[in-house]
Amino acid sequence: MSNPDIEVSRVIYGTDFLAACAEFDFVQPDPEGLISALERGALAGLVARLGGTAIGTVFIGMGGVAPGDAAFYGAMQKIDPEGKTPPIYALKVSDEYPHQGGGTALMLAAEKVIIQDRSLPNKVCLTVQTTAKPALKLYKKLGYEDRGMIIVEDALIPDDQDGWGRGTVESVVMTKDLQSE
Ligand SMILES: CC(C)(COP(=O)(O)OP(=O)(O)OC[C@H]1O[C@@H](n2cnc3c(N)ncnc32)[C@H](O)[C@@H]1OP(=O)(O)O)[C@@H](O)C(=O)NCCC(=O)NCCS
Repeated sequence: MSNPDIEVSRVIYGTDFLAACAEFDFVQPDPEGLISALERGALAGLVARLGGTAIGTVFIGMGGVAPGDAAFYGAMQKIDPEGKTPPIYALKVSDEYPHQGGGTALMLAAEKVIIQDRSLPNKVCLTVQTTAKPALKLYKKLGYEDRGMIIVEDALIPDDQDGWGRGTVESVVMTKDLQSE
């Protein structure tokens, strides 16, 4: 669903991003890692706000979803040998605001950032764990195509105590061709 009360803004580096992380550190497992991803050349981080409260985030990067994620790079190499398809990653909406349009708003805003950047091809890729059913449903609804399964070692996964651990997961690689405006 789309929710007109949700505003998505773009944060890029430094204090702006840190302030956003402070607002939603309950949302993201690894704000420091995301900051360093941005500093290494990711395109943008986006924050969704509802009534002024940060409720979710998404990131757009070049060069990979997760640094060191060999399985992803291997799969993308087959799909896109030149490695130019920008990835969207770390989509997360707070558990306190489920199914209110935050995920849709963030994904559409991320796609718009890519479409408006004339230096990028109008394509996007991502990986999603096979257990993340709401996310899989969201991506299919938005027109993402399943491009095959990969096994990701050392992935960040939620633990039983509201924290995050690392483990091996099965993920789907998805891509979408975007329509320019
Ligand atoms: C996936 C996620 C971002 C969706 O956020 P959201 O704000 O609830 O999404 P929206 O309200 O925009 O819903 C859009 C679509 O997502 C799917 N969806 C959302 N919540 C769902 C749920 N609980 N069960 C099944 N599908 C769901 C539906 O297809 C929905 O469309 P609909 O409204 O027509 O049913 C959120 O559930 C989340 O943060 N999940 C955990 C992190 C994660 O898996 N991230 C993906 C990393 S690749």
